[in-house]
Amino acid sequence: KNVVILISGRGSNMEAIVHTAQRERWSARIAAVISNRPDAAGLKFAQTQGIATAVVDHKAFETREAFDAALMQAIDAHDPAVVVLAGFMRILTPVFTAHYAGRMLNIHPSLLPSFPGLHTHQRALEAGCQLAGATVHGVTAELDHGPILAQALVPVLPGDDADRLSARVLALEHQMYPRALRWFLNDELEFDGNRVRHRMGES
Ligand code: GRF
Repeated sequence: KNVVILISGRGSNMEAIVHTAQRERWSARIAAVISNRPDAAGLKFAQTQGIATAVVDHKAFETREAFDAALMQAIDAHDPAVVVLAGFMRILTPVFTAHYAGRMLNIHPSLLPSFPGLHTHQRALEAGCQLAGATVHGVTAELDHGPILAQALVPVLPGDDADRLSARVLALEHQMYPRALRWFLNDELEFDGNRVRHRMGES
């Protein structure tokens, strides 16, 4: 099975997935890393791993639809079983989300359905949350919604600002995204609308 990962920047979640796939000797292959930004730092890491990279620069397109069509072409060239959004910072069109329905995942640094969208950590702090976390979910047409594959918690600690909280959540993301992706690839999950059940309990 081929995996295509979309990034826009740092790509630390992509890195965690690549390292985990290597360490655990996944039979699935990280076939390509695609960025909408030519300067995304994660592209360099992917290249050092011998992974194919591509850039589909959104600035080169007049409409979201045209960008998404080009992106779909770049992705489908790698015949993906699953498309993994890892810090991919573009709103996707319904045509795009429909094309990858049931085979596109995202990670969001909050306990969805709380705090979808941007500035999640700041908003969680301002709301006085004592717990924060991250969510791996299936991608639907609605931003940061869809069936929840995995969710995990960290405490909000005294003295936290958005940077400190986001670093704590990011460390968690690096654990949970590779694991949830492995469940998905191994067909260990059962989808029932928004509810997702692990077939044999966690592994
Ligand atoms: C992560 O916090 C992820 O949850 C969010 O964007 C950030 C991406 O970080 N969607 P990285 O590019 O994976 O380092």
